[in-house]
Amino acid sequence: MNLKKESRKLFPWVYFFFFYVFLLVSARVQPSEAATKDSPKGHVKLQNHLLASSVVFPVSGNVYPLGYYYVLLNIGNPPKVFDLDIDTGSDLTWVQCDAPCKGCTKPRDSQYKPKCNTLPCSHMLCYGLDLHQRRPCLDPQDQCDYEVGYSDHASSLGALVTDVFPLRLENGSTTHPHLTFGCGYDQESPGPHPAPPTAGMLGLGRGKVSISSQLSYLGITKNVIVHCLSHDNGNGFLSIGDELVPSSGVTWTSLALKSTSKHYMTGPAELLFNDKTTSVKGINFIFDSGSSYTYFNAQAYQAILSHIRKDLKVKALMETKEDKSLPVCWKGKEPLKSVYDVKKYFKTITLRFGSQKKGQLFQVPPESYLIITEEGSVCLGILNGSEIGLDNYNIIGDIFFQGIMVIYDNEKQRIGWIPSDCDKLPNVNHNRRGVLSKEEEYQRGFSLIRWLFAGTDSSNKKDGEL
Ligand SMILES: *[C@@H]1O[C@H](CO)[C@@H](O)[C@H](O)[C@H]1NC(C)=O
Ligand SMILES: *[C@@H]1O[C@H](CO)[C@@H](O)[C@H](O)[C@H]1NC(C)=O
Repeated sequence: MNLKKESRKLFPWVYFFFFYVFLLVSARVQPSEAATKDSPKGHVKLQNHLLASSVVFPVSGNVYPLGYYYVLLNIGNPPKVFDLDIDTGSDLTWVQCDAPCKGCTKPRDSQYKPKCNTLPCSHMLCYGLDLHQRRPCLDPQDQCDYEVGYSDHASSLGALVTDVFPLRLENGSTTHPHLTFGCGYDQESPGPHPAPPTAGMLGLGRGKVSISSQLSYLGITKNVIVHCLSHDNGNGFLSIGDELVPSSGVTWTSLALKSTSKHYMTGPAELLFNDKTTSVKGINFIFDSGSSYTYFNAQAYQAILSHIRKDLKVKALMETKEDKSLPVCWKGKEPLKSVYDVKKYFKTITLRFGSQKKGQLFQVPPESYLIITEEGSVCLGILNGSEIGLDNYNIIGDIFFQGIMVIYDNEKQRIGWIPSDCDKLPNVNHNRRGVLSKEEEYQRGFSLIRWLFAGTDSSNKKDGEL
């Protein structure tokens, strides 16, 4: 389906509808002041109509031992559920394709079955792929083949398809947009770590083809992504749209727009250890939820490592080479159980973006850069990026994101963060969302999975649905 055409037809109609509703609502609430006060709902709904809504997904996963976070997403009609690794470091969403599939981690009945819904290579979303990700388009009717590679050298090869995504919006409506994604029939993972056993990737990068860009193009949500990964139990949530963004308390830093990269790259930052400056300045970071650990370039890695080692010298932990989970680990007298048992031996690492005086601080407490392994050692979750060819930039991965809400704001080209309890959905501005009962709050939150499974039940449909 041609997205451009559809959205052009869509918009004037939407506004007509809202205007009509506006007339109806104002006619109803005007006669009595009391009525306006008693039922603010009508007015609240009206505001909602003029704003794009949000989609919220519960997130599962952890940094260690799993190494990834995923959401469940319904695709198709009848809908089939897929577990997708959430990745703000790449654009293209893809699922393992029943084509047949090479290097697939899912059995055939859990793969996506294409049904003559491939996208022609002349489609704008095919052009939206990075140049090195698409094949030459010889005949405009040819299918759009893609190949994406990741920094860990894993890759997916397939064809772009379009299908319906039943989604429940935070404003109470359901929507069934047609979105474009990859049907990946050839996956490879030659690196030292196996690819996540998920059905695929949820691409949330800055490019046109990312799910958030597509939803915003269709006017369904703002092009804003929020994730909140909890520290302890591997829960959290992901949201596309801006309704969960707190109105205050968020630290914002702007994206480095000069770079042609489609990554969420920040301006230069300085590295602090225990609130004191290190010699490391002017380094760029990419915020990438698709990476479980954080990667520093050789200089920053060396600096952090020597600060930590110097600091630990007289303490109760001994560096060990026995634990093979990660390159740098320490053990105590007894096997360790929790990061909180050793937190006191480690210091906070801080990234300072912007100027020295008015900089934006991204603080990383020990529990957000250490893991406890199955063998009971504590290991450094910051890795040497230069070893895998990352010399010019640094990647902030999931381990640093625990316990904070991270906001990728493509509308204002900035990135924000705020410490949060990611086990709970944050308080949405109730004036905008309307008054919800406790029960409804819960249902829009972590029991969303159940709703997603029921996503195509027509009794869930509300008026105003397009
Ligand atoms: C919810 O938001 C969507 C997309 O922004 C809109 O189409 C729909 O009409 C809204 N529904 C309500 C009940 O406000
Ligand atoms: C990081 O990797 C680079 C490139 O392989 C290497 O030269 C450097 O010594 C490494 N740094 C540390 C502290 O291991």
